[in-house]
Amino acid sequence: MLLQVLGTAAGSGIPSGTARAPDAPGHAQFHWRRRHASLAVRTGEGRWYLVNATPDLGDQIEAYPALHPGPGRRQTPVAGLVLTDAELDHTTGLTRLREAHDGLEVFATAPVRQAIRDRLRLDTVLAPYTDVAWHDLPVRGSAPLGAADGGEGLRGSALPVSGKRPRYAAEEPDDEEWAVALRLYDPATGASVLYAPALAAWPDHLHRAAAEADCVIVDGTFWDEEEPRRAGVCDHTATGMGHLPVAGPGGTAALLAPLTARCLYTHLNNTNPLVDPDAPQHKQLARLGLEVAHDGMVIQL
Ligand code: MLT
Ligand code: MN
Repeated sequence: MLLQVLGTAAGSGIPSGTARAPDAPGHAQFHWRRRHASLAVRTGEGRWYLVNATPDLGDQIEAYPALHPGPGRRQTPVAGLVLTDAELDHTTGLTRLREAHDGLEVFATAPVRQAIRDRLRLDTVLAPYTDVAWHDLPVRGSAPLGAADGGEGLRGSALPVSGKRPRYAAEEPDDEEWAVALRLYDPATGASVLYAPALAAWPDHLHRAAAEADCVIVDGTFWDEEEPRRAGVCDHTATGMGHLPVAGPGGTAALLAPLTARCLYTHLNNTNPLVDPDAPQHKQLARLGLEVAHDGMVIQL
């Protein structure tokens, strides 16, 4: 399985109005620049699926030659998408794919599809431009992603990790599938990866999947539980905002450290000390065998 990390920042982006790179020597802007959290996964020769569609999607495609349009006019190697939630930082990029000549396959859980249809109305908006086939991302069982040309493609399944819905969908009903971890499985090699950019809890089913995975890429929005309050982001704790913190009691670092999988953090908020490449917190994670993903990272499993 081949994964291309397209971006690693939370919704407000890095840098943002509140987190500019300092002008100090050694702090080149590119060290700090992170695009919105997203991943591309190769599902076959010249075929890719994106995990989430960020507002940066145009730049992200531009930055990675394997995703550039072609070979024919209005053709794209991006054959489909999987959405882990309906948040604006993970869905609004869908409009950038409206020129996909051969149509798009989009996989998401039922509440996410409903929010996109009834609140964002993206299905109606996209329909005149390209054929989007909306599919369920199943919690039980798995969906085939990108099988083509005799290849098997990958399998994708959802593991519920948060009932937090986007603010624009506040009136939609409760559902445990508002935000899920995506499990990608390669039947050809047996490799599996878990991708969870929004993690409000660490349920048993996620723990079991993480224990079997080769790679786990999870929510690194906040370093510690008090960070959003301390930084004046809002009155909630990290967990209260739907993001388990990295450090401290109940933090994900302690949960990830015993795993045999390669573990990385993504979806970093601009208040997280990890956005500074020289921050001592990187060494703290490295001692636990944990990494921070960066834009452009290639992961081969
Ligand atoms: C989140 O990750 O919690 C959301 O993206 C926040 C938001 O966009 O408002
Ligand atoms: Mn987000």
